[in-house]
Amino acid sequence: MKYLIFGQGYIAHKFLEAFGSEAEISTVRIDDFSDVKKELELKKPEVVVNCAGKTGRPNVDWCEDHKMETLTSNVVAPLILARACEELNLYMVHIGSGCVYEGYNEGKGYSEEDTPNFEGSYYSRTKAWSERMLKDFKVLQLRLRMPFDSIPSERNFITKITKYAKVISIANSISVLEDFMLAAKTLIERRTVGVYNVTNPGFITHQEILDMYIELVDPNYRYELFSVEEMEKITKAKRSNCGLSVQKLEDEGIHLRPVAQAIRESLIVYRQHLEKMA
Ligand SMILES: NC(=O)c1ccc[n+]([C@@H]2O[C@H](COP(=O)([O-])OP(=O)(O)OC[C@H]3O[C@@H](n4cnc5c(N)ncnc54)[C@H](OP(=O)(O)O)[C@@H]3O)[C@@H](O)[C@H]2O)c1
Repeated sequence: MKYLIFGQGYIAHKFLEAFGSEAEISTVRIDDFSDVKKELELKKPEVVVNCAGKTGRPNVDWCEDHKMETLTSNVVAPLILARACEELNLYMVHIGSGCVYEGYNEGKGYSEEDTPNFEGSYYSRTKAWSERMLKDFKVLQLRLRMPFDSIPSERNFITKITKYAKVISIANSISVLEDFMLAAKTLIERRTVGVYNVTNPGFITHQEILDMYIELVDPNYRYELFSVEEMEKITKAKRSNCGLSVQKLEDEGIHLRPVAQAIRESLIVYRQHLEKMA
């Protein structure tokens, strides 16, 4: 088998769909070095994809109250997997996060070389720590952000925000998953290593997305906005809002659809999925 995926959650299943029959999701947890090494020796993958991590349920606030579990899964476990991959000379891909920044870097967006500047949540801190540690090894790190796609799911960014009673509206970089997977496949085929922002070019606000949702999915949907300060009264952790630069990805010749176009096209298909589910 070509691709072995660790973690059995939302993104792991998206990779499984993208890679098809050449991929398998492992049921082995990656906290224990000998278990991981045994699994890799048994399955002999060409590519190891780490989609394991604690993201929090119902949301990232969970990580504030479960710091040791979050640290173990988001920092210790990826290092264990990286050690096993290095010993067996296997190519490793790790799913990082763009939620390690706050702001827009004077409109340019943050590049992979900019030091993370968002410390407002324990989850984000662990993602920044693991990224920094894995940077010294031959690992491809794909920074994903607010994943959005055409399939309704409680983990899909659009499904999530349409269920909130009130939403903030701030510009952000977003990864439309169909595009993210195309970029991931290209980088993986080339056996690229290093950190990559894999978001669609440009920034978009929640309000712009929800207005498109009303236009393309549900004309009866209504939303209510509130400020970041009001939101922070009801959340434990702060949320990262930021713009990322995709220059490094584009320098590789990988051009994703501009964010507004990608979201518009995804919403058209999203509506078709909703109609089939009704
Ligand atoms: N979804 C997003 O919005 C988003 C955005 C940016 C980056 N990411 C990153 O993408 C990765 C996957 O996220 P996701 O959305 O797929 O999260 P998810 O749906 O919560 O899935 C994560 C999976 O990892 C498993 N896991 C946790 N610790 C593990 C361990 N030590 N060994 C093996 N499996 C373990 C979890 O199982 P248990 O719950 O049973 O532990 C769960 O099955 C994470 O690293 C996350 O930080 C996600």
